[in-house]
Amino acid sequence: MLIELFSLLLSVSVTMQVMQIDFERFEQLSGYDIYNSSLRVRKYNRTAVVINGTIELMVPLNESVMVSSDFFHSRLGNQQFNHYPAKFPTQNVCEFLQRFYEDYSEYCEHVVNLPRKGECPIAPRIIYVHNKPFPAKAVPPFFPTGLWKVQMAHTLNNIEIVRVEVIIKATHDLGI
Ligand SMILES: *[C@@H]1O[C@H](CO)[C@@H](O)[C@H](O)[C@H]1NC(C)=O
Ligand SMILES: *[C@@H]1O[C@H](CO)[C@@H](O)[C@H](O)[C@H]1NC(C)=O
Ligand SMILES: *[C@@H]1O[C@H](CO)[C@@H](O)[C@H](O)[C@H]1NC(C)=O
Ligand SMILES: *[C@@H]1O[C@H](CO)[C@@H](O)[C@H](O)[C@H]1NC(C)=O
Repeated sequence: MLIELFSLLLSVSVTMQVMQIDFERFEQLSGYDIYNSSLRVRKYNRTAVVINGTIELMVPLNESVMVSSDFFHSRLGNQQFNHYPAKFPTQNVCEFLQRFYEDYSEYCEHVVNLPRKGECPIAPRIIYVHNKPFPAKAVPPFFPTGLWKVQMAHTLNNIEIVRVEVIIKATHDLGI
């Protein structure tokens, strides 16, 4: 799920670009019997904000588990979020991960013990995220600035079983 959340943020991407994008907050909202996460956003040094910690997947995830997403945008960065009409196609968790690997495996550095390519069901495991800054290169130039809240959910038989939320801040990098 959190893996997918990463991939989701990244899949907004197409080209190389100079944006400053920082993690603001990560929070798991439900599904603690499925994921046990210690991920935290923290200031790494004077200029870098990173996400660090572990994601423990506690049960196997098979093709019956669907992944969906919701985007919210706060243009002024004041937490007044509006639902943003972007969506990724709802896919099952195995397809989602497969697509992620095809498109974004280059952004998996700093992340250890991801499921192997094509693994399905995805076996329980602990994934380690080591001080990972947001890969701003993955985001296109027209990406609107402000705060972005992205929520990702898992559903099983149309019942929501997990929801996580990440907030990132996008500003133009003035190259100073
Ligand atoms: C969740 O992970 C923490 C370590 O990050 C551990 O101390 C705790 O026991 C775990 N909780 C469950 C329910 O597995
Ligand atoms: C902060 O850490 C980042 C990521 O490791 C590094 O690229 C950058 O040079 C560091 N900045 C300072 C001021 O140490
Ligand atoms: C970063 O996460 C690792 C687990 O991947 C943990 O052992 C470490 O204490 C965390 N570092 C900080 C500064 O929170
Ligand atoms: C998929 O996982 C769900 C939830 O754990 C389980 O109820 C279901 O039987 C599994 N389906 C298959 C085909 O293994």
